[in-house]
Amino acid sequence: MRSKISVIGSGNVGASVAQFLSVRDLGDIALFDIIEGASEGKALDMMEGTPHWGVDNNIKGYTTIDRNVYSNLAGSDVIVVTAGLARKPGMTRDDLLSKNVQIIKDIAENVKKYAPDAVVVIVSNPADTMAYAFQKVSGMNPEKIMGLGGSLDSARFRTFLAMELGVSVEDVNAFVIGGHGDDMVPFIRFSSVSGIPITSLLSKEKIDEIVQRTRFGGGEIVNLLKTGSAYYAPGISITAMVESIIKDRKRVIPCAAYINKETAKHYSAEGLFIGVPIKIGENGVEHIYKVEFNADEKALWDKTVKSVKENAGKVDQFLGSN
Ligand code: LAC
Repeated sequence: MRSKISVIGSGNVGASVAQFLSVRDLGDIALFDIIEGASEGKALDMMEGTPHWGVDNNIKGYTTIDRNVYSNLAGSDVIVVTAGLARKPGMTRDDLLSKNVQIIKDIAENVKKYAPDAVVVIVSNPADTMAYAFQKVSGMNPEKIMGLGGSLDSARFRTFLAMELGVSVEDVNAFVIGGHGDDMVPFIRFSSVSGIPITSLLSKEKIDEIVQRTRFGGGEIVNLLKTGSAYYAPGISITAMVESIIKDRKRVIPCAAYINKETAKHYSAEGLFIGVPIKIGENGVEHIYKVEFNADEKALWDKTVKSVKENAGKVDQFLGSN
């Protein structure tokens, strides 16, 4: 049987995801958006190109002004949530919190109603915080919920390292953990080119520069585009996560995952969603890998946990009064 993937929010990120899912032939796709006709138009447009790819995905769009269309979430194996505002120049991801949490609340209620067993990928920013809000509202199994962050940030980190070293991106192994915000933690000690540590290939100054560029990688694109934020690299990074779920590939990608009591013994951050290396399979987050920190890394980790925790507090406040 064919898989079904729903994408809620058909803006630039949602439409890119849908396009990449179709090219990779990952299943039938349902697109949802509040803007009348946007999902229907984009879905039809994408589908009309599929003869050239030789893929038989059924791509359908729905306008969510009529809330009943959410019943078409039923049967989804994976749901990707991209709905919400994107950044403009001068904004941080956290500036989006108060608007996006309202949107996520409504979506979480509908996902719970129509597709409570789906694996959910939260992209709306701040993604880790929105994953937290989604879980709180839906009450769904937190192991089936993950937020975009490290998947994209690590791709950026690997790209910048490959550009600097003049080597294939495929051979650069590096990851970014922590919140998907400006104090994310690009992990230098385990970064390598086919196993050769980057610390033996690049100067400390150069590495610091690349770490900084990675941290503000999203902002760099926002400043260039001026009207919105990145969508191609996010679309590909989300597709990699979805593919690992649909094909049960067990890829290890850092994403925002739920930190339960047991995992918190290592990472602290109990009850939060935050970027950690996870194994992604058909059940969602199938394992969280524990990375040993040195003192400097621990300090960076504690800082990012603090930011994510503050944001979770804002969500609790919002949900408490709504
Ligand atoms: C970025 C957005 C998707 O990092 O958060 O580009």
